[in-house]
Amino acid sequence: MKVVSIGGAVALVTGANRGIGRALTEALLARGAKKVYAAARQPETLRGVGDERVVALRLDVTDADQIRAAVDAAPDVGLVFNNAGVTLATDLAASTLIDHARLEMDVNYFGPLQLLHHMAPTLARNGGGAVVNIGPQGVPDSHALWSTALAFGVLVLARRNSAFRRTFA
Ligand SMILES: NC(=O)c1ccc[n+]([C@@H]2O[C@H](COP(=O)([O-])OP(=O)(O)OC[C@H]3O[C@@H](n4cnc5c(N)ncnc54)[C@H](OP(=O)(O)O)[C@@H]3O)[C@@H](O)[C@H]2O)c1
Repeated sequence: MKVVSIGGAVALVTGANRGIGRALTEALLARGAKKVYAAARQPETLRGVGDERVVALRLDVTDADQIRAAVDAAPDVGLVFNNAGVTLATDLAASTLIDHARLEMDVNYFGPLQLLHHMAPTLARNGGGAVVNIGPQGVPDSHALWSTALAFGVLVLARRNSAFRRTFA
């Protein structure tokens, strides 16, 4: 099984400004990551992650232009943490149900898929790398996402217990 070390690694964390993403960023730094690209919709909210190894990136994972710009700005990434996510828990009878469901899919599913799609050549160039998907439960695994990763030799770990996880992990 492929082993990916955090010590000396260059990582990118989405939604790095708060919650699990911020904790992940701090943990990566504490464990010796060489550099962490801390991505947030509003980079100014990253203030307080005071470490010279942190590079702040503006990234709304639903924005294709921002995804491309972030990938261009981070050519040395080997570890990607798809952490940004929303869970809107909308009542079945609410008028906003479908809009909320679409937003959840855009952030939790298409966002990571698009980021990995653009990031895959970078990961391949940097030795294969690894991707960790920290999504909410209930979001379907993406065959396209795993296939893209497989084609580029990227290790993918998901919280969910999918067939693809067993293939990769
Ligand atoms: N906490 C739990 O118990 C739990 C359990 C299972 C799974 N998860 C998953 O773990 C991840 C983090 O959870 P959390 O508890 O830390 O959540 P959180 O505190 O609500 O933080 C969510 C993060 O995602 C960012 N985000 C939301 N929409 C975004 C977008 N369109 N583009 C980029 N970033 C966006 C938020 O940025 P802003 O600050 O700009 O809003 C924030 O940084 C999520 O994917 C969540 O579904 C959490």
